[in-house]
Amino acid sequence: EKLTVFAPATIANLSCGFDVLGLALDGIGDILHLELTPEPGVSITRVTGADIPLETDRNVAGIAGMAFLEAATGYSGGVRIEIEKRIAPGSGIGSSAASSAGTVWGLNQLLGEPFGLPDLVGFAMKGEALASGAAHADNVAPALYGGITLVRSSHPLDIARVHCPEALHACILHPQIELKTSDARKVLRTSIPLSKGIRQWGNVGGLVTGLFTEDFGLISRSLEDCIIEPVRSLLIPGFDTLREAALAAGALGFGISGSGPSVYALTHGADTAEAVSRALGKAYDAIDIPYTLHHGPV
Ligand code: HSE
Repeated sequence: EKLTVFAPATIANLSCGFDVLGLALDGIGDILHLELTPEPGVSITRVTGADIPLETDRNVAGIAGMAFLEAATGYSGGVRIEIEKRIAPGSGIGSSAASSAGTVWGLNQLLGEPFGLPDLVGFAMKGEALASGAAHADNVAPALYGGITLVRSSHPLDIARVHCPEALHACILHPQIELKTSDARKVLRTSIPLSKGIRQWGNVGGLVTGLFTEDFGLISRSLEDCIIEPVRSLLIPGFDTLREAALAAGALGFGISGSGPSVYALTHGADTAEAVSRALGKAYDAIDIPYTLHHGPV
């Protein structure tokens, strides 16, 4: 049997929700073609759109697929995968997560859904560990569940869906510079002052409450990150200029997408997303780095 899967790009972290809050983007993602094979194991036959290894143990889809197959005790065959990478690796919108999530989701469909979504997140996280050096679930969870998710705990896994207001739109600007997640994690301090913790978890609570109640003012006030962003933003040329441009054009909030270098803005409605996207592009035209822009519903 064969299946073609769309695996969405994701924004995770959502500012204050470092490693816990993420959202899936509608309309931007990888395409995976899966075919069950009598031979066991995962064979990645082709990757287009990015220069990434085909070897099973060096490819996130290979690792996630193997984790799935090892747990699927009722199935002794394997899978052949072709990946159309439409999300640039290293862009900060969940490129590795999309391939891992798409693989395990597709396998699960082909084999009659032996696993639930939390299990699939666990398998896909194995791929994330290869890509970033840390098995975080904030990208794979929204890629698999859709919408917005909260990873309350990674060990053991405990994932909750968060309400996603229909009017919520996202804009992404991807500067064409490479920033590895593993490097962007190494620059972070491992301890924080209590005062910053208090501010951050106030914002996380505010953001989740704002999403559930569709209180866009509360969402806007809560889209702040006083811990990670001040450190990582130094690695993104033009970050402050972009923030000013996004907020002046009416964005609810602005921040780093994942570990960067992409930045994102959330908006209330498609028209504002359009305006914010234009403003971001205009602001970055003044900086001598090529970029790509995307905006659309969450
Ligand atoms: N939560 C991770 C980080 C996401 O910010 O390091 C990386 O894609």
